[in-house]
Amino acid sequence: METIVKEKFTELFDQQPDGVFAAPGRVNLIGEHTDYNDGFVLPAAINFSTWIAASKRDDNIIKAIALDELDDQQQPTQTEFEINSDLAKDPKAPWSDYLRGVVIELLAKDFNLCGANLVIQGNVPRGAGLSSSASLETALVLTLTQLSQENIDGITAAKVGQAAENNFAGCQCGIMDQMVSSLGKKDNAVLLDCRSLETELIPIPSDSSLIVVNSNVKRGLVDSEYNTRRQQCEQAAAHFNADSLRDVSLKQLQSERDNMDEVVYRRALHVITENQRTLDATEALKNNNFSELSRLMFESHESMKNDFEITVKPIDDLVEIIRKVIGEQGGVRMTGGGFGGCIVTLVPQELKEKVLTAVNSEYNKISGYEPTIFVCEANNGAFTL
Ligand code: GLA
Repeated sequence: METIVKEKFTELFDQQPDGVFAAPGRVNLIGEHTDYNDGFVLPAAINFSTWIAASKRDDNIIKAIALDELDDQQQPTQTEFEINSDLAKDPKAPWSDYLRGVVIELLAKDFNLCGANLVIQGNVPRGAGLSSSASLETALVLTLTQLSQENIDGITAAKVGQAAENNFAGCQCGIMDQMVSSLGKKDNAVLLDCRSLETELIPIPSDSSLIVVNSNVKRGLVDSEYNTRRQQCEQAAAHFNADSLRDVSLKQLQSERDNMDEVVYRRALHVITENQRTLDATEALKNNNFSELSRLMFESHESMKNDFEITVKPIDDLVEIIRKVIGEQGGVRMTGGGFGGCIVTLVPQELKEKVLTAVNSEYNKISGYEPTIFVCEANNGAFTL
């Protein structure tokens, strides 16, 4: 991919790029919708990324071409603007929201940016819950700061990416995706405390397989449902006069059950129990305790299905198909923001083929959708080296 994007750059801009920069997508093992509640998450960066070939310009203009985003004539779309903090959206290139947002947020943090020519291409499946947008944001932060010879650390880069998404693209996402796209580490998951932003690397057992299956259910209303969940969590925290649900215990929550809106109660129940499951799953992974991991990942799925209500039927079907094959020998659950997208399963290597066979033979029959299977490896983040 790196070579293709480089060649395309040379063809389209009639010059060699100064460099090619990349940032990965991610899969979350456990800890869903906990990040914006100051909680814990356990994602890994994956071997699917966004690449950007780039060169510095002498003026103040950014010109970017997205090879994967085609117009009506099936040509890559492009966008062009002068660097300033008052950028408007480009309706012909909605993907450029992320670029414009990143430029605005870098300027807000007093980074000096030079003009740039960019060619962008990626292989993170889009709209699948594997953070193609965070991988684009992180790759853009890396590219623009490198070209401008500005130093930025991984945590600041993640904050810039998140702010671009919150303030310009309009999704009130948490910090998980950008943090792991920046700071992920090969062969490891990252336990992230979303309050302190402290990270701990948790090795993924080398004799296990990390498999992601895309349900290929088109995700609808994702941003609005996501933002509603966030509001419900804030409402629950406010009930306890707490800054976030991180500060509310399960006992406290249960004691207030009758005084809370029933839906808000269940949303909070998911978040509070999910935080504990994430910490417990981290221990299980450290101890190679797959039966415990299996239980926790399945409970996480049930909680997302019944209390947070973010799964859809084909995703539940996928989890069931895999669970039947792996039993307590591995874990499986939906991963990402929800309403479609992917499941993640972590299993001993010897079960890999059985999982693939079961998904290929059963999923379409039950759901009518074709699955796409990704056997993943945990990868380095853009700022890891
Ligand atoms: C999306 C968001 C993340 C996180 C997950 C759910 O991926 O971008 O911040 O909230 O959903 O865990």
